[in-house]
Amino acid sequence: MNQKTKYWHVDNTVDDWLAYPQAQQAVKEAAELLQRNELVAFPTETVYGLGGNGLVDKTVEKIYIAKGRPSDNPLILHIAEEEQLEQLAEEVPPLARALMEAFWPGPLTLVLPKKAGVAQRASAGLDTIAVRMPDHPLALALIRAAGLPIAAPSANLSGRPSPTTGRHVQEDLEGRIAGILDGGPTGIGVESTVVDVTGEVPLILRPGGITAEQIADITGEVAVDPGLTVEGAAPRSPGMKYRHYAPEGEMWLVTGANVEAMAEMIRRHADEARREGKKVGILATRESASFYNKNDIVLACGERASLISVAQHLYDVLRRFDEEKVDLIFAETFLENGVGAAVMNRLNKAAGGKRL
Ligand code: TXA
Ligand code: MG
Repeated sequence: MNQKTKYWHVDNTVDDWLAYPQAQQAVKEAAELLQRNELVAFPTETVYGLGGNGLVDKTVEKIYIAKGRPSDNPLILHIAEEEQLEQLAEEVPPLARALMEAFWPGPLTLVLPKKAGVAQRASAGLDTIAVRMPDHPLALALIRAAGLPIAAPSANLSGRPSPTTGRHVQEDLEGRIAGILDGGPTGIGVESTVVDVTGEVPLILRPGGITAEQIADITGEVAVDPGLTVEGAAPRSPGMKYRHYAPEGEMWLVTGANVEAMAEMIRRHADEARREGKKVGILATRESASFYNKNDIVLACGERASLISVAQHLYDVLRRFDEEKVDLIFAETFLENGVGAAVMNRLNKAAGGKRL
């Protein structure tokens, strides 16, 4: 694949950035490409998405090819107005309505009964469809201008960490897609929460930006797919069975009663690996970065005191370990409350479940 990839940089540091002619022009050009069934990457509040017309199977096929994505893994359709749901969902259960009202636009994807015959390729032939309304001004403006539901998986090559900056998208997809709309770093840093709302109780298929606690506040009850945590149980969401977010170095998660205990364990393993001539990466935090040997690649992934900041920096840190070509990565672990559940889910997948 060697396509010319158009790059728009939209300056998001100014007030009311969408009012600027340069931003409007970028959105207009990107929307025209989407209408012509080309692929355009764009920012959302979670991670960058690789967008294409979700209603045209041939276009969705191009998304799978550009990413190298397994073809049985369905995509999320992104909408800007609730009315767009009528095209996609057979029905919108009251449970779904309540969650939409509380969290849309926002990092919540709803799995709904699909309208027969639509978006066959985007839903990978399932009879359900995943839909979300992203909370990002550029994403919403682009979807509105295109006037289409936009199928958009994360804009990374399959198996790589999701992109949280325009540069990450460029690294993976330059030459493979028609355009990249760069609106600066994304805010949340991990993907949306995927919730199946076809049953009585909302079922979390993928932890993400909206926490289980927040969902339970609205619906009273919430369940988590046992396939996410119970060994040997198959995840319900096709995407969760793949070893995603994998850095190239071999990664180990380190648990401990507190950060000092984790650091001690990591230092021991890092010293040994270094003596064997291996290049070592350490996923630390602002609080702990100074605990480690300066000869290792020590990266602070936000602040332990703020799980939100850890989520924001996670994928960039994983990509930097790849750039540094480390052989081994030792990662501190985090509490699983709030967005910590999503952080630990991604770290577990990155490490292929390996723990020390
Ligand atoms: O934050 C996000 O959700 C980002 C941004 C770009 O919006 N998108 C994203 O898409 O993470 P993707 O394709 O990387 O992940 C979609 C997830 C996969 O795990 C997929 O298996 C699941 O949603 N999914 C999609 N349709 C589904 C369905 N009908 N039933 C169950 N799981 C579904
Ligand atoms: Mg993804």
